[in-house]
Amino acid sequence: MIKFPDNFLWGAAASAPQTEGHSLTNGKSATTWDEWFEQNPEKFNHGQGPQDTSNVYEMYKEDVANMPRVGMNSYRTSISWARLLPDGRTLNQEAVEFYRDYFQTMLDHNVEPIVNLFHFDMPWWLMKEGGWENRKSVDDFAFYAKTAFEQFGDLVKTWSTFNEPLVHIECGYLYQFHYPAIVDFKKAVQVGYHTLMAHVCAVREFRNSGADGKIGIILNVLPAYSRSDSAEDIKAKEAADLLNTYSFLDPTVLGVIPEKLITLLKDNDLLPYVDAADNELIAKNTVDYIGINYYQPRRVKAPDNSVKKARMPSDLYESYDWPDKKINPYRGWEIYPKALYDVAMMMKDQYHNIPWFVSENGMGVADEQRFMGDDGMIDDQYRIDFMKEHLEWLHKGIEAGSNCFGYHVWTYVDCWSWLNGYRNRYGLYSVDLDNGFKRTVKKSGLWFKQLSDNNGF
Ligand code: BG6
Repeated sequence: MIKFPDNFLWGAAASAPQTEGHSLTNGKSATTWDEWFEQNPEKFNHGQGPQDTSNVYEMYKEDVANMPRVGMNSYRTSISWARLLPDGRTLNQEAVEFYRDYFQTMLDHNVEPIVNLFHFDMPWWLMKEGGWENRKSVDDFAFYAKTAFEQFGDLVKTWSTFNEPLVHIECGYLYQFHYPAIVDFKKAVQVGYHTLMAHVCAVREFRNSGADGKIGIILNVLPAYSRSDSAEDIKAKEAADLLNTYSFLDPTVLGVIPEKLITLLKDNDLLPYVDAADNELIAKNTVDYIGINYYQPRRVKAPDNSVKKARMPSDLYESYDWPDKKINPYRGWEIYPKALYDVAMMMKDQYHNIPWFVSENGMGVADEQRFMGDDGMIDDQYRIDFMKEHLEWLHKGIEAGSNCFGYHVWTYVDCWSWLNGYRNRYGLYSVDLDNGFKRTVKKSGLWFKQLSDNNGF
């Protein structure tokens, strides 16, 4: 029997823009997702846009009541910036009431709310001013964070600033999966820098507010795995780690931007504009904990062709198809559970054993309705096996001394996922879009309840 530490968090994660619905009503203003859908609905799987999410705005009471039924003692979601502050300054009182009741309902059911501030949902009014490209976004975000701490700080004791900042940076400015869908490495670095400073200033607001509780950030980071020990492959691995892992972990936990990252950016004419006081702000506003989202490893090799100045990350490292890899046949991603042990050791050895938790881990399955039994329940044994394998390696990391305090799956109820719509399902509950968003527990949800009750398996 594998046992986890006392008071371990068992739960799930989701986000406001992927679950709430009512995306252009009840006082909420548009985000880039609403606007992009309006302009190009054909880009979205089955033409399903942000208004088609799982209707949590109306169904949160039922959803929260069901959380303990699958063993959840904690739940992460986000606040919608564009709902709380539709024009960036004016408070939407209906949103305050909605979120207060949502979080209070969780507390009433002994579910700890973990509340994130930004999950890829840039308000449209700010995007029109340049979004994260514009330094002004840092102050706007700090104002939003301060407002959220004031309005909900009595109910919420665990906060995070950003979910996977690398994703809105690279998907928006390199790989064209998020608005504004442009390809510009230098802008991507500037957007990344402003995101970091927005995070830092939100932490400063939290400390200044005198709120009790803790604040962190949710990152999709792990050490890259190189094809070989050749000098070229190791150099590629270092570049991948600097750009994708240490770029956010070092400043948020250790309070410094790595010198080697600055050199790498300088050598490639990618340095961002900075303000003189930034380094001091970064040093003073480190986090209390880290959330790690982990789905699949990053395997890298030296690029086939060398260039003088990198214009894409692939000029510094290329992804490598590891021949021994095990694949999730329903999503195409690699399954490599040992990475959770490697992350655990990285947090212990490189980041002064800061408290951290697995803030997302999960198995996406396309067309999952095919696994539905006659009783309407999805028989997702593959997801139970996936979780077990990952928890085994996580447990080894905890036994080796890593300070991990929880495990959250992505996700609770199947949710809408950006351009992918409902293509890949991840939930402990399924949702029937043709039948009033009816939720039905999956086999994995029943298993998760036993896992949580036994604090292990
Ligand atoms: C996570 C994101 O990385 O991946 C979520 O935090 C997203 O927002 C999830 O929905 C699943 O992605 P996909 O592409 O498989 O639907």
